[in-house]
Amino acid sequence: MKLTVNSLLETKKLAEDFAMSLSEGDMVLLNGDLGAGKTTFTQFVFASLGVKDVVNSPTFAILKTYEGKFTMHHFDTYRITTEEAIEAGFDEVISNKESVKFIEWSENIKPLLPKKYIEVNIKVIDENKREFEITRYE
Ligand SMILES: Nc1ncnc2c1ncn2[C@@H]1O[C@H](COP(=O)(O)OP(=O)(O)O)[C@@H](O)[C@H]1O
Ligand SMILES: [Mg+2]
Repeated sequence: MKLTVNSLLETKKLAEDFAMSLSEGDMVLLNGDLGAGKTTFTQFVFASLGVKDVVNSPTFAILKTYEGKFTMHHFDTYRITTEEAIEAGFDEVISNKESVKFIEWSENIKPLLPKKYIEVNIKVIDENKREFEITRYE
């Protein structure tokens, strides 16, 4: 699915539709340049799944966990390697069958990723315009 959004509000609407399509255990990999909107999209999805405390970028924490419709994990693995992720126990979090996971910069921990995932590619068109491409791999 490919869709161009023209504003933050349209990204919010897309995130709300996307949130409705999620099931227990889903893994969402977010790709796109710095500032593309990976964190923003995640915040909108989590908010529409009932997360009350607004989600900050987890860049410095690497992992933040929230409760809503599901237990939801937001990873930003920009600064770590696969080995460090394993040391931190992230492989166990990733293999949890019930929680929903959103990962920014997942290429850094590729060996830990499952075969089944949803890919969200975000491309910057201009200041407020983004192209979203969402693909579900089974
Ligand atoms: N349509 C849009 N969708 C998402 N973000 C947008 C949009 N238009 C402008 N932005 C802005 O782009 C920035 C995206 O930042 P962020 O979500 O932190 O990116 P990333 O996590 O990919 O580095 C935010 O400042 C956001 O307000
Ligand atoms: Mg981010």
